[in-house]
Amino acid sequence: MNQPDLKVTLGPLELKNPVIAASGTFGYGKEYASLVDPNLLGGIVVKGLSLKPRPGNRPPRIVETPAGMLNAIGLANIGVEAFLKEKLPWLRTLDTAVMVNIYGHSLEEYGAVAAALKGTEGIAALEVNISCPNVDQGGMAFGTDPAVSAAVTETVLKNTDKPVIVKLTPNVTDICAVARAVEDAGAHALSLINTLTGMVIDTKTGQPVLANISGGLSGPAIRPVALHMVYRVVRAVKIPVIGIGGIMEPDDALQFLMAGAKAVQVGTANFVNPRATLEILEGIRKYCAEKGIVRIEDLTGNLNE
Ligand SMILES: Cc1cc2nc3c(=O)[nH]c(=O)nc-3n(C[C@H](O)[C@H](O)[C@H](O)COP(=O)(O)O)c2cc1C
Repeated sequence: MNQPDLKVTLGPLELKNPVIAASGTFGYGKEYASLVDPNLLGGIVVKGLSLKPRPGNRPPRIVETPAGMLNAIGLANIGVEAFLKEKLPWLRTLDTAVMVNIYGHSLEEYGAVAAALKGTEGIAALEVNISCPNVDQGGMAFGTDPAVSAAVTETVLKNTDKPVIVKLTPNVTDICAVARAVEDAGAHALSLINTLTGMVIDTKTGQPVLANISGGLSGPAIRPVALHMVYRVVRAVKIPVIGIGGIMEPDDALQFLMAGAKAVQVGTANFVNPRATLEILEGIRKYCAEKGIVRIEDLTGNLNE
């Protein structure tokens, strides 16, 4: 059987294959290295970085839900300075696309994090998390407003020399309006979806299970929602789209590719099966070989409607 060509192009970014480990579920890469050779993956997105280190929310921060999990980690991270000193030197030795997920609580913070990473070798792209609360607008998430999402995109682009992927939140009325605004602002690619907001109550105590009350739902429970959003956004913009949401098996990833995503990210699956990324990649390779698909990009958007 001929080996299919799994290379994918995301604007200025070329990946050796379409399988990427999602932010917040793969640490800074090294944590999984004894189980998954990161060099085999299309890319890894590291945990979201802010300007200063952040401890995150009080526990409990995670609860299992039917076919998924709810997390309120609160974007705990080591901050950009420690990342550059302690994590990037090892990441730089890898032969995979290292993408750095960034966030801020103000436009200035987004700009400052991007600027701190500017000119740095070994970073293939920035992924901008716009699901974060905006302190200047009463805590409303940046990504819920198309104009504010565009402003974040412009600020990051002004402060970086790297390709910019903007990661969309599904907690909106019309994700296509945000996608178009971000595209018009100059983003090179989009990734979607981030988690869906939810809550769980312990009826014995009458208390919300998460100390933060609400959290972000991820895992198979969100897959059909994510898939439909990807399907719609792909048809609303011209820039490449990365599909995320409940991808556990090769077949799940194939659905996102058929909906029009050029690549996929695997998140919660890493907690259930640390080798999920590689097994999904092998499944995609096998599917292409069996179907006689020569280039994975021939499968992108190849949907029988
Ligand atoms: C524990 C946890 C931490 C996460 N941290 C981040 C983060 O720092 N930045 C970000 O953009 N997304 C973060 N996410 C969202 C994931 O990258 C992904 O978009 C989401 O979980 C949906 O994909 P999945 O169903 O495959 O997990 C996190 C998700 C989980 C479960």
